[in-house]
Amino acid sequence: MTASRISHWAQQAFMLTSLLANTSDFAAVDTSRTMAPTSITSFQAQFTVAPTADVGAPLLPNIEDPNARDAQVECPGYLATHLDLKDCGFTAQLSLLGEACDVYGTDIQDLVLTVEHQAKTRLHVNIQPSHITPENGSWYILNETWVPAPQQEECLDASDLVFSWTNTPSFGFNVTRTSSQEVIFSTDGSKLIYENQFIEFVTSMDEGYNLYGLGEVIHGLRLQPGLTRTIYAADAGDPVDGNIYGSHPFYLETRYPRVQGGNTGSKDSSTSHGVYLRNAHAQEILMHDTNVTWRTLGGDIDLYFFSGPSQTEVTSQYIQQIGLPVMQQYWTLGYHQCRWGYENWSMTEEVVNNFAKFEIPLETMWNDIDYMKGYRDFDNDPIRFPYDEGKEFLDRLHAKGQHYVPIIDAAIYHPNPWNESDAYQVFNDGNETGSFMLNPDGSLYIGQVWPGFTVFPDWMTMSASKWWLQTMAAWQMKVPFDGLWIDMNEVSSFCVGSCGSKNLSQNPVHPAFKLPGEPGALVFEYPEGFNITNATEAASAQYGSSTQAAAASKTAGPSSTTTDYLRTTPIIGERNINQPPYVINHVHGDLAVHATSPNATHHNGVKEYDVHNLYGHQLLQNTYRAMTAIMPGKRPFIIGRSTFAGSGNYSGHWGGDNFSKFTYMYFSIPQALSMSLFGLPMFGVDTCGFGGNSDEELCNRWMMLSAFFPFYRNHNVLGAISQEPYVWESVMEATKVAMNIRFQLLPYMYTLFYHAHTSGDTVMRALAWEFPKDALLADADRQFLLGSAILVTPVLTQGHTTVDGVFPGLVEGTDVYYDWYNQSAMNVPKKKNTTIEAPLGHIPVYVRGGNILATQEMRMTTREARKTDWSLIVAMDKDGRANGTLYLDDGVSIEPEATKIVIMGGQVAVLADQARRNVTTLRVDVFVDGEFTDLDLPLANVTVLGVAAPPASLQVKVDKKNVTACVEYCAERQRLVISDLQQVLDGKVWRKNWSLTL
Ligand code: GLC
Repeated sequence: MTASRISHWAQQAFMLTSLLANTSDFAAVDTSRTMAPTSITSFQAQFTVAPTADVGAPLLPNIEDPNARDAQVECPGYLATHLDLKDCGFTAQLSLLGEACDVYGTDIQDLVLTVEHQAKTRLHVNIQPSHITPENGSWYILNETWVPAPQQEECLDASDLVFSWTNTPSFGFNVTRTSSQEVIFSTDGSKLIYENQFIEFVTSMDEGYNLYGLGEVIHGLRLQPGLTRTIYAADAGDPVDGNIYGSHPFYLETRYPRVQGGNTGSKDSSTSHGVYLRNAHAQEILMHDTNVTWRTLGGDIDLYFFSGPSQTEVTSQYIQQIGLPVMQQYWTLGYHQCRWGYENWSMTEEVVNNFAKFEIPLETMWNDIDYMKGYRDFDNDPIRFPYDEGKEFLDRLHAKGQHYVPIIDAAIYHPNPWNESDAYQVFNDGNETGSFMLNPDGSLYIGQVWPGFTVFPDWMTMSASKWWLQTMAAWQMKVPFDGLWIDMNEVSSFCVGSCGSKNLSQNPVHPAFKLPGEPGALVFEYPEGFNITNATEAASAQYGSSTQAAAASKTAGPSSTTTDYLRTTPIIGERNINQPPYVINHVHGDLAVHATSPNATHHNGVKEYDVHNLYGHQLLQNTYRAMTAIMPGKRPFIIGRSTFAGSGNYSGHWGGDNFSKFTYMYFSIPQALSMSLFGLPMFGVDTCGFGGNSDEELCNRWMMLSAFFPFYRNHNVLGAISQEPYVWESVMEATKVAMNIRFQLLPYMYTLFYHAHTSGDTVMRALAWEFPKDALLADADRQFLLGSAILVTPVLTQGHTTVDGVFPGLVEGTDVYYDWYNQSAMNVPKKKNTTIEAPLGHIPVYVRGGNILATQEMRMTTREARKTDWSLIVAMDKDGRANGTLYLDDGVSIEPEATKIVIMGGQVAVLADQARRNVTTLRVDVFVDGEFTDLDLPLANVTVLGVAAPPASLQVKVDKKNVTACVEYCAERQRLVISDLQQVLDGKVWRKNWSLTL
């Protein structure tokens, strides 16, 4: 583990401390811990855990180890025999083809291969040991109740994908796309390694391949050769290229047709396919120039291939199997304000009032762990966040149509048994019902998080689910929240092993590191360029930094380096789950660091080693179920940190602990696009940055950019300077500009969510997905599309007032784009990459021709916005056509009583009139299906973009009858605006089908 790979402020603190090995399963807290007075209101003077408590064994990741054994060289591979044809596939036996190599575990002699053509577009390949017992079941088999397994559907003769295999030189297989005879996956020529703690298979790739997914990671969208993706849920503050919170063992590969003279300009589309390894164990994917090597520390090979052939199809085929994204309540698309450091109810309400004072829309107010009594879940601090005062505040908030979301952490405080006043009923209830994870000896596993020594709910017992629901329901009576923010669910623990077991008398203890803002804590940096744009402030910040740094260096623990690494030799027939022989490239090194240890034991006997990556997912599932019970019929709003394949079915996600840096603003786009692939469209990041101080320029750009992300929240770390949008006037103005667009687009965004929820469509889209022929877009991730209609090209660099961007299809003549602000079509640039003016306060946004958007207006909340008149933006494509859909319902219910789908089509034609002048005729058709009537409000206007000639007549007709309306044509902008339509259609635009002509 090198310091450069760790960037979270907390981990930075750990890295300053001793690297002494502590390999004990029950790492006791160092008795030399020191008393540390703190300035945090909720902490009394308390014991501070020694930094060594979170230090694991010194390990060298296998991929960095020059002496690492190469399984491909040492192992014999397998031979396939005993083929047994089934209706839609076959099974075969795989037997070890020579002497066991036992390179990182014990070789499994006999395996079963199962191949199923599950559907036209889906092939399933499973390889698992032939002898699975109840005792070792969880080592190999991922239980379907935890992660759904895609099932056999129709059994067709013709499938998109075929499986073929060979025994020379050892068992290998190919998956081929039937239509093109193209091999999309091939382990041919490489060996299969299957051991009790290590599985490896290798698929060959074409040079320069385009791979996406395999998260969660902070990186550009396209994954280049040379990278290794580690999948092991980690509480790590967004280190670039390190494993972080979520586990998504899925990739999308896109192949562009090769054309002479390069790789671009083809008339044919690229083809895409998807590969999902349904495996929850720690794993690593090594991307080499001409192959991808997949390694996991257990489980089975449970591969699903999705044939696409377009990206859109791959994603939807995949998402339909893992679980379609949960439908969001309409209000969740409003603006969210959060920070760590809103210290009490009045400070929280003051922020709400400030938004009102400055007339900035605010939908939802959030509280971080500040509200808790000693950082204990479901327990408000009686002085700072008393229940009665909170209820009054929340009543006022709700009356204004606003919402409240508090944080809930995964860990539960274990009270000090020797201190009666420390009693904590939430713990007692869970403990009495056997709801917490155990040590291998059956005692409670006691780790450490914000409140001190803590236990961890065991999601593999029904009692934990019940206790969670009851506890949450009781607390909701006291704090009527509208959604929940689930944090630390990797599951994070700040010490190795059951460090609290023998130390509960010290509880509540302080973490080994300084909390942000505490004296001696790490110094907050400012965004890039701060010293240029804020010279005076920067100078004083620099002074503050050096004094803080001096203080920090005095309090930091001893630092040492070591080159002696622990290497585990496999013992035949045994698993070493604490120190697996194969060392993954985990951001925290030892698997037990900063998380519950691999030997933490569930009540059903399953070890964390086998299910670590599922903890967060199961917590989200349980929270979803609890919320549906507490608020029957309502769609739960949950934002969670640690996710697994399918978590989108329960929750949204935020990008975790990013930094107030321009770089991180950029990373928010590829992270969001990857989440689109993983079926987690409700995504956004800590706008203006979490770690470090923000500044006016960065926050200005970021508040505008995030306005186009589905989840729009500003969040900040404790102790950093304030960064609400009203802190800087220019940020406030910029925010309102962007929010104004967002509000107009909310009905569109909600419709995109409907499509995501019903068919697995994406909401935020990479340019490559909408323009599959253009190989130049393969790694475009500084721009994105919202649905297919809105192109966003943000400035992502400090000090720049222009941005280079592409308008896909514009140079080629297939597409047109209209500037959102002036509504003119973009001129065709000479070069594909176009420089766009984007001074501070302006975010370039374009409507792509061919789309019709139904819009409403900005108000202070979405409740008010939903009462405003409708408008249509009809953006014509190059042929004068456009269409769109709109989904409407109550915005709340899981099963709405009534819904409505509106299909809109538009067309313009240019004709010569009697005077031989070119004139335009227009037709807009609206088809309405469904019974939902609440949003049948007046139509204010119809704006048609891309109208090359004036209208043939100024008489607007609706359903062939003349109506009174204003018609304005602007030749300069080629724009036609029909306004004053409020009275037509009886003031109820979506009540029935209609046609408007001109
Ligand atoms: C974690 C979360 C962060 C939160 C903090 C305190 O670091 O990722 O968002 O503010 O904990 O609860």
